[in-house]
Amino acid sequence: VQADADWAREIRALADERDAVLLAHNYQLPEIQDVADHTGDSLALSRIAASSSASTIVFCGVHFMAETAKILGPDKTVLIPDERAGCSLADSITAEQLRAWKAEHPGAVVVSYVNTTADVKAETDICCTSSNAVDVVRSIPADREVLFCPDQFLGAHVKRETGRDNLHVWAGECHVHAGINGPELAERAAANPDADLFIHPECGCATSALYLAGEGTVAAERVKILSTGDMLTAARDTGARSVLVATEVGMLHQLRKAAPEIDFRAVNDRASCRYMKMITPAALLRCLREGADEVHVPSDVADRARASVERMIAIGK
Ligand code: 13P
Ligand code: SF4
Repeated sequence: VQADADWAREIRALADERDAVLLAHNYQLPEIQDVADHTGDSLALSRIAASSSASTIVFCGVHFMAETAKILGPDKTVLIPDERAGCSLADSITAEQLRAWKAEHPGAVVVSYVNTTADVKAETDICCTSSNAVDVVRSIPADREVLFCPDQFLGAHVKRETGRDNLHVWAGECHVHAGINGPELAERAAANPDADLFIHPECGCATSALYLAGEGTVAAERVKILSTGDMLTAARDTGARSVLVATEVGMLHQLRKAAPEIDFRAVNDRASCRYMKMITPAALLRCLREGADEVHVPSDVADRARASVERMIAIGK
């Protein structure tokens, strides 16, 4: 415990010396979340990065998140404790693939999930996160075709919510969320009949959850498809005593802090993102001591990507 306290004190002192703000995504290790200035979902952290007056942003999350902060603040120093922290979803579409897809649909509006590389964002009209994807697509005139990439499950969710037939979805996925499957959810829901289901829209089981509600196995009002930030708001508002959570397991830490009286359980407790977990206490300490790893986005790419990211942070709650 003493070692943990010494580590946290050193992190805070080094952050002050560097005029750095520490941001941590909800999937980070608990000790990283607890030492950060701000925790949140992708949208909230992008907004904080954009409005922060600190000269350095230390992004405890994955590489595309740090790149997004750099696109929004090209004059800031943006650090990530381990630049190898990638994302299988961001890897599921390249800028070249997106250009070829656009050529097949001239005039379509491209909506990319924030879980994409800077090169893909540079080919994008509007970025979105899981908390504002529906609002972003609703902001596009109904007669325009939409290309939505790269997450097929988030795309299916947006298509369901907006009822848009002219929305085309790329077939990418996040290996962690895709692995939380329908049969597993059905089994957990049957064993916990009074529990709410909090489901991230990147999950393979989101459709199964709606099916369970449709056939009456789970009361429809208990099924909630939510971004990680919206899960925290829902946790404070729900009257449920137990909640089954379908997302990366790091989320349980913030949920338990927000509503200690609720029994939160993972639908799949092996759903851990190895990229998110590369940001260890040792890596964060090295980052602040050495000023590494620094994130760079070529200025021509950042300039082309910026408008799509600025539209993202302007839309939705
Ligand atoms: P949100 O925090 O925006 O819900 O994103 C989830 C995610 O998978 C980030 O990698
Ligand atoms: Fe990417 Fe999935 Fe990890 Fe999120 S949980 S960073 S989407 S691989």
